[in-house]
Amino acid sequence: MTELLKICALADLSDTEPTRVVSDSFPPLAVYRLADGIFITDDTCTHGNASLAEGYLEGDVIECPFHGGAFDIRTGEPTAFPCAEALRTYVAILRDGFIYIDSESLA
Ligand code: FES
Repeated sequence: MTELLKICALADLSDTEPTRVVSDSFPPLAVYRLADGIFITDDTCTHGNASLAEGYLEGDVIECPFHGGAFDIRTGEPTAFPCAEALRTYVAILRDGFIYIDSESLA
């Protein structure tokens, strides 16, 4: 059965840096607040065990802090070597000041 999983409060997000969210209910996530919306990706780089929330956000690209690989946070597609595998992305659902993802997106 599908359910909404609360990720964080909108007010907890920075306009300039990703926010790392950890829970027993989903993998570590990186949440990004851009001018045109909220975007959510897995926080762990697909190239290694780096937290992307500790990386460098430039527009809609997140650069990994370990080896300089990068991803488009809207699509999850890698944009810079050595990242080759896409990052998982999730649809952010905004309700009453909180951000959720659909549990089916974890399947
Ligand atoms: S761990 Fe992210 S680029 Fe290597």
